[in-house]
Amino acid sequence: MKQLIIINGPNLNLLGKREPEIYGHQTFKEYLEDLKLKFPEVSIDYFQSNIEGELITKLQDVGFSYDGIILNAAAYTHTSVGIGDAIKAITTPVVEVHISNTFSREEFRHQSYISPNAKGVILGFGLQSYELAITSFLKV
Ligand code: DQA
Repeated sequence: MKQLIIINGPNLNLLGKREPEIYGHQTFKEYLEDLKLKFPEVSIDYFQSNIEGELITKLQDVGFSYDGIILNAAAYTHTSVGIGDAIKAITTPVVEVHISNTFSREEFRHQSYISPNAKGVILGFGLQSYELAITSFLKV
């Protein structure tokens, strides 16, 4: 069984009530339950933190044994050299996801420290971005 993990960064614990016109009305907990039902053949772990160092520690913990990491580093995408370096350091492939189309938003969101080191990037499909990322690991 493939072992994947979804890692969500800051403020994504507020999905469902945070700017619903951008991020939708569903909580991540609800969505994760749907995902697990949709992909019974995959093990999907989940981790969320608002703290940059905790995200780096989790990447290090899973990054030499898991089959894939689906990472939405949220605002840290645009600022964190440390998360970018962690992705370079580990061997598990990382797919970067975003709920919104960051390129249609403010200019500071066009910069990503994740993308150069990611296997691929999926953005702008709402919560479905995560599902597309899981599918990308199944096709390998
Ligand atoms: C986000 C986009 C980021 O720019 C923003 O800071 C987020 C969420 C997204 O999923 O669309 O918190 O990563």
